[in-house]
Amino acid sequence: GAGLGSLARTHSVVFGTAIQARYLEQDAAYRDAVATEASLLVPEWEAKWAALQPEEGRFDTAPLDAILAWARSQRIPVRGHALVWHNAMPDWLPAALAEGRQRALGVLAAHLDVALHHARGQIRDWDVVNEPIANPPGSDVPDPGPGPLRDTPWLRALGPSYVETALRMARERDPTLRLTLNEYGVEEDTPDAAEKRRRLLALLRDLVGRGVPLDAVGIQAHLQLARPFRPEPFAGFLAQIRSLGLAVLVTELDIRETHAAPQDLARRDALVAERAEAFLACAVQGGARTVLSWGLTDRYSWLATEPAVALPNGRVHRGLPLDADYHRKPMWNGMARAF
Ligand code: XIL
Repeated sequence: GAGLGSLARTHSVVFGTAIQARYLEQDAAYRDAVATEASLLVPEWEAKWAALQPEEGRFDTAPLDAILAWARSQRIPVRGHALVWHNAMPDWLPAALAEGRQRALGVLAAHLDVALHHARGQIRDWDVVNEPIANPPGSDVPDPGPGPLRDTPWLRALGPSYVETALRMARERDPTLRLTLNEYGVEEDTPDAAEKRRRLLALLRDLVGRGVPLDAVGIQAHLQLARPFRPEPFAGFLAQIRSLGLAVLVTELDIRETHAAPQDLARRDALVAERAEAFLACAVQGGARTVLSWGLTDRYSWLATEPAVALPNGRVHRGLPLDADYHRKPMWNGMARAF
């Protein structure tokens, strides 16, 4: 039947997913599922710095080009992810950034020159800065920072203005781009998330107030059943973002189960579906007109491969709308109802 993309479109929502070139290349069932379900694509790896510029001055656009070519053949638009991030840095990059401000500005400019020129006209929308907010001290997630911004090689090289610099450089290179700042850990009803929401809103107010080019905020939405979700605080947060004139996107939806996930598969899937529906209904109600999941199928979810998020007893997360055999799960139905 109709995919999530067409269902969402009837409610003026664009639904899409992260994909990887290697799965497109090797798995016809994967290609079919993506073509059926998605109205927007984002490269899960291929446009990250380590993929695009593995050695200084040597750009490898082949994997990204494979995604762009397939997307063109299917007439599905592609968004970009991610230009400035503390992860997926090639080995040479932190060392270069440590050489000082001028050097850091130089490598950033050179990277944006090539990335934005290469994808010009094909990618209209980029995550320019990914995950700039520090996790609050004492939180159960790593990387607290000294201040509201995360301690990264970019912050150390350029200070807090690195966010603004990256956004301005992106706008200069392509004034037609929709510039997005993407963040995680701001969705749920925990003290840490509340503090991250405050930090992110303070950053956004500052940027918008000073006329820094920024169009949208991406809410990653790597949700966890172990954490409570309540619509009210999240809806209030979205309203504040939108009152700044910024659009809201859900960029990386997936759902981690608890370590005490029930043995019963139907029960597990029902819990995941319920959370997906509650969250998405709130996000869509709150003005998110673009929703992407971080993969479509449990077969290739990063939740299955990341040791840090693995479930005990060899059980694998079922946090995406399709199971490992591409069958639609209750999460798929929950998402369809939420659009
Ligand atoms: C993850 C990918 O899913 C993995 O395959 C990769 O090895 C590491 O990055 N936030 C982001 C994404 O912005 O880029 C991350 O993607 C998941 C968390």
